[in-house]
Amino acid sequence: PIIYFVTPTYPRREQIPELTRLAHTLLHVPRLHWLVANDQEGCNTFMDGMLKRFGIPYTHLASPMPSNFRKVKPAPRGVANRRAALQWLRQRNLTDGVLYFGDDDNTYDLGLFSEIRQTQRVSMFPVGFIADYGVSGPVVRKGKVVAFLDSWLAGRRWPVDMAGFAVNLEYMAQFPNVNMPYKPGFEEDRFLRSIGLRLDLIEPRGKNCSQILVWHTQTKSKKAAVVRLESEYLDGRSNLGAL
Ligand code: UGA
Ligand code: MN
Repeated sequence: PIIYFVTPTYPRREQIPELTRLAHTLLHVPRLHWLVANDQEGCNTFMDGMLKRFGIPYTHLASPMPSNFRKVKPAPRGVANRRAALQWLRQRNLTDGVLYFGDDDNTYDLGLFSEIRQTQRVSMFPVGFIADYGVSGPVVRKGKVVAFLDSWLAGRRWPVDMAGFAVNLEYMAQFPNVNMPYKPGFEEDRFLRSIGLRLDLIEPRGKNCSQILVWHTQTKSKKAAVVRLESEYLDGRSNLGAL
């Protein structure tokens, strides 16, 4: 099966380095199709050229967040993007594949890809660097998922992170109402409910969920300083031009 790696991304100063770093992970993975869904109106030709140069089979979607959600705090991040990718997959009736939601800023061990490729229905595994506990993931007893560890339960039936599961497309095809709502914090739970998940269907991966193969890393950049340099440079006030 092909791995359909769905990456929401959005324009900000870290976008190009994040996608470069992610591409350099994905370049090691065979039989992978990268669905890059950008939170921007219309086609970004610069980004398209960049994606083409990486040489990874890819599809570039423009999937802007509806404007009414942009004003909401917290905003539903990456949802319009993932919905666009779900629609793309559904329109093609693709069944020989595995879907994985891989944000542009996370860190992926290459071992993750062989683990998720085996997904028969829904597989799950822990994610590192999540909130207060520093990890989120299934609790496994005798090879079966029996509970979840997550520092934000919030009454969710499936208290897992977006990066902590993969779905077989043939399995997903049975559920025509598959969906991800614009409901911050509840996207994973509602998506997994929409594909009829049951505890006994979950396949624990990564040595019975004892291995961490994906981390919820976040990138910091010194915004203020660089913005000042850029504006000085544009005004001709900087000595950068002389370097
Ligand atoms: C956490 C979870 O790990 C995500 O899976 C979840 O989507 C997100 O919260 C959420 O709030 O819904 P976090 O690191 O806090 O992730 O969020 P970001 O990495 O900032 O955003 C998640 C994804 O959406 C990223 O791939 C990002 O590029 C994209 N995004 C973010 C957009 O497309 N548009 C935005 O305005 C913001
Ligand atoms: Mn993130």
